[in-house]
Order: sequence, then structure tokens, then C-alpha cells
Amino acid sequence: MGNRRLRYTIIGLTLLLIGGGFLEQHAATTDTKTKSTQKSAQRTQKKVVGILQYVSHPALDQIKAGVISGLRASGYSVGKNLTIKFQNGQADQSKLTTMSQQLVQEKADVLVGIATPAAQALANTTQTTPIVLGAVTDPVSAGLVQDMQKPCGNITGVSDQPPLASILTLARQLIPASKTVGILYSSQEANSKAQVATATAAATKLGLKVIKKPVATTNEIATTVQVLARQVDFLLLPLDNTLANAMSTVVAEADRQQLPVFPAVDTMVRQGGLATVGINQRQLGIQTGKMVAQILSGQARPAKMPVYTFKRGDLIINQDQAQRLGIKIHDDLAQTAKFVTTTKGATK
Ligand code: TRP
Repeated sequence: MGNRRLRYTIIGLTLLLIGGGFLEQHAATTDTKTKSTQKSAQRTQKKVVGILQYVSHPALDQIKAGVISGLRASGYSVGKNLTIKFQNGQADQSKLTTMSQQLVQEKADVLVGIATPAAQALANTTQTTPIVLGAVTDPVSAGLVQDMQKPCGNITGVSDQPPLASILTLARQLIPASKTVGILYSSQEANSKAQVATATAAATKLGLKVIKKPVATTNEIATTVQVLARQVDFLLLPLDNTLANAMSTVVAEADRQQLPVFPAVDTMVRQGGLATVGINQRQLGIQTGKMVAQILSGQARPAKMPVYTFKRGDLIINQDQAQRLGIKIHDDLAQTAKFVTTTKGATK
């Protein structure tokens, strides 16, 4: 009896071991199978992101590079599981329209509009493909979203609201005797108009007199700077694509007139402006890329994704310009400032 029991137990145990082993092996094969299916799915189902950039200037170029970094940080790498279709509208409205149509026809999963006119062109082309704004200053007044918290449609993204009051305060610190500020901007850009209103209110609060001068084309920049130089103590430039693209013209004339220039962005200080409290352009792009990734992976949908707003900037001073204009930087400012020099080739 005892013997038989032992035999059964041994047989039972052996069967259990064999069975267990088999199960384990089976599990292992399914596991490798799922992994390889996932891999091949990733290989075959590359996501397509269509990027439309309004024009080439250093800030927008940095945003574009940031978008690609942000996507990579979220698991989407070009060549592996991502294809980028890139178009540059060269500040031409009809190009922006045809390029938008092309990107939609190419079945982009998500579209990115870098700067207001590019985002508007994409928005006019599709109401279904998700669109992520690569730094649009005022998405509501540009008619792109209904509400910053609940965009409602197929559009969300990143907004850049430059700290214009801090820039004006900085100008006052660097040029204490200043009484009048000149605001130069493009009359063609919705994003600039919104900033001019904010800057005017902030300047008035600080007790500064404001003279506003819109330019319709880049051809008017040099003469307008000349005229302003006779009336104002310093210039304020909003985040304005036309000026960023023609910064060399602004700087050449301002230099001739010994007129200090405070742009709203770090890249324009590197292009020859004097100083700013500026939002990091690459960071804007990285955040845009991360939002694109959330939509690609199905984690979020634009209608319910709040627009992410950047409002704070870093203190950037161009030491070449400070020296040229004979401007003293107090220690407390110098300690927190990042000093840059004019980058040759960035003044385009
Ligand atoms: N926010 C701008 C727009 O809505 C685009 C932009 C981003 C920009 N960074 C900039 C323009 C720097 C000028 C300089 O169009």
C-alpha cells in the first residue's frame, strides 16, 4: 500500500513538473511572439506628423528642433516609428494654403502649425485632423480655439505670452532717464496687435509715454526706425515674425541712431537687440512635441486638452550692445542675467 502510494505520488509529481515546464515554455513563446508583433507594428505603423512653419527665423527654427526633441523624449523617433513631413511657407500666404492641403492629403496623423499664420492656414484646411499650435501668442483672438482651457475643436497646443511688463521694467532699470517707448510691429500679424495692446497698458502704468508705429512691409522698417529714434528713448519689439525675420534691418538702423532695442525674445537679443526677459524658444517646441505625442498615442484629444501657456522668461543681456551703448549693468541684475553676444549669421 505504502509503496503504491509513493509510486503515485512520484508519477503525480513528475507529471506536474512536465506540465509546468510545458506551460512555462508556452508562456515564453507567446511572450516573444507579442513582443515581436509589437515591434513589427511599430516598424510598419509609423506615425506621420506634418509640420508647417510660417517662415525661417532663429526663434521658429528653434521651435521646430524642439518639437522633434519633445517627440523623441516621448518615445517617437524619426526613422523608427515616426515620419516628419516638413514644409516652410516662406511668409507667403498662398504657399501656406497649398502646403496645408498637401499635408492633409499625405494623411498626417497630427499637424503642427509653427506661428500664427501657419496655424491659421492649417485650421482653414481641416476640421478633423488634430492640430497642435507651436507657440501661437493669442490662439483665441486668432480664431483658433474657443477657450484656452477647453479648446472644443481639433486644435490645442502651446501659447507664448511674453512678459512685456517685465521687459519694460528692465528697460527702465537699464535706461533710468527714459520717458518714452517706441513700439514697432507688423500691421499684418494678429499676434503682434494683441501684444501691442498689452504693452501699451503696461507702459502707461509705469509712467512711460508710448508711440506705436506699425509697418505694413519690411521695406518700411528702416525709415520707421529713423523716425522713432527722434521721438523715443528706446524701442520695444513684440514677438513679431516680420521683425524677427528682418532683425538685421532693425538692428542696422537702431545702431546708426544709438537707439537701444528691447525685443520680446532671447533669439532677437542674439540677433542684436540689447536685452529681454525672454521665453526659451526650444522649450516651447519641446512642450509642443510632448502634446503631439499624447495625441499620437491616443492618451488625449485636442478638444479637452488645455492650451499650455508660457509666461515667464529668462533675463538675457547682449554684452556687445550694452558696451556699444555705454549701458551700465548693476550687480543685482548682472548676477541673474545670462550674457550673450551678437551671433553672426543669426541676424538674418
Ligand atoms: N508666437 C508667434 C506667433 O504667434 C510665433 C513666434 C514664436 C515668434 N516665437 C517667436 C515670433 C519669436 C517672433 C519671435 O506667430
